[in-house]
Amino acid sequence: MIGGGQLARMTAEAATALGIGFRVLAASPGDPAALVVHDVHIGDHDDPEAVLAFAEGCDVVTFDHEHVPTPILEALVARGIAVRPGPRALAHAQDKLHMRAALTAINVPCPAWQQVQSAAEVELFAASHGWPVVLKTSRGGYDGRGVWVVRSVVEATGVMGTPLAGDSRWLAEQFVPFTRELSAQVARSPHGQAVAYPVVQTTQIDGICAEVVAPAVGLSEDLALSAQEIALRIARDLDVVGMLAVELFQTADGLVVNELAMRPHNSGHWSIEGAVTSQFENHLRAVLDLPLGDPSVRAPSVVMVNILGGSVGELYSAYRHVFARDAEIKVHLYGKEVRPGRKVGHVTVLGDDADALLARGRHAADYFSGAIDE
Ligand SMILES: Nc1ncnc2c1ncn2[C@@H]1O[C@H](COP(=O)(O)OP(=O)(O)OP(=O)(O)O)[C@@H](O)[C@H]1O
Ligand SMILES: [Mg+2]
Repeated sequence: MIGGGQLARMTAEAATALGIGFRVLAASPGDPAALVVHDVHIGDHDDPEAVLAFAEGCDVVTFDHEHVPTPILEALVARGIAVRPGPRALAHAQDKLHMRAALTAINVPCPAWQQVQSAAEVELFAASHGWPVVLKTSRGGYDGRGVWVVRSVVEATGVMGTPLAGDSRWLAEQFVPFTRELSAQVARSPHGQAVAYPVVQTTQIDGICAEVVAPAVGLSEDLALSAQEIALRIARDLDVVGMLAVELFQTADGLVVNELAMRPHNSGHWSIEGAVTSQFENHLRAVLDLPLGDPSVRAPSVVMVNILGGSVGELYSAYRHVFARDAEIKVHLYGKEVRPGRKVGHVTVLGDDADALLARGRHAADYFSGAIDE
């Protein structure tokens, strides 16, 4: 797996259980996965030599993030190394303009969108679709970095004053007045088997995933099936292998796709304890072309709350209180240095009532971050 973040760290747990050799290319020895995986290469994902040396002897190469440049992936393929998802599929998760064009071509509902090169073009776009406009860099964004909601041409000018990195471009999108955000995850294998996880609701705070409830509360069966159908269709039509997350907006008029991730995703962390087969295990099974596991949820409701870095630099001391208060809660800490707002872990609780589970999950996450002390 290229990338040594928390997704690789949690995939390593699944690989350990399955007895599968698991090598990680991490940027530094302190990365979450590098701290726990014994077969670690240290190197940059955009250094061709480092990636080729890492991939030597691997049966399959997959990803913890989507930032590996396409020419490097093509070089791996040219050497006969299985890259899953493949470079062509992955391009849709790497570049939001590429993704919008491909989704539009296969009739997947998207917000109105357009490539823009100047604030004047944003103003023209707003003349048809209204303010605010959502401006995005087509490449390199994550956790809301690379996304701005602009309300005027002056604000657009301010945002676009920052030069774009590399071959990133500006994407303008209509601001979608969503009632909530959903995520539909599927796993798909090279020979075309696919399974769909229950559709979940996600809450983003400042662009960062904060909470997930599985399955989404009160979602009609029609909309749930339609979200799963969209995700399965995207996986098939874009030839995705591994886990695919489709982030969706639920609106009064139905579903609209926000974006795609072709790897395990924050909206699926609940599945470690909450599903018969976790997203990490199914990602491995899919990229190895093994039969996929049952994605069914194990309880009426499962809640995941992210632990964001706060004022407390040392997280271990919270265990005494959190575990004494709630014997059922499951905690995952990623081994990251605490910085304000950084994702450093998550908690999961299973039960019957989403509101009660959310209260328990939030309490634990707030206690870890230091936002509360009792
Ligand atoms: N067109 C839109 N209309 C309304 N809100 C939007 C729109 N696009 C994005 N957002 C809001 O901004 C958040 C981040 O956007 P997006 O998912 O595109 O960015 P990202 O940084 O790539 O996110 P991620 O952390 O999932 O990688 C969304 O979850 C949503 O809350
Ligand atoms: Mg997103």
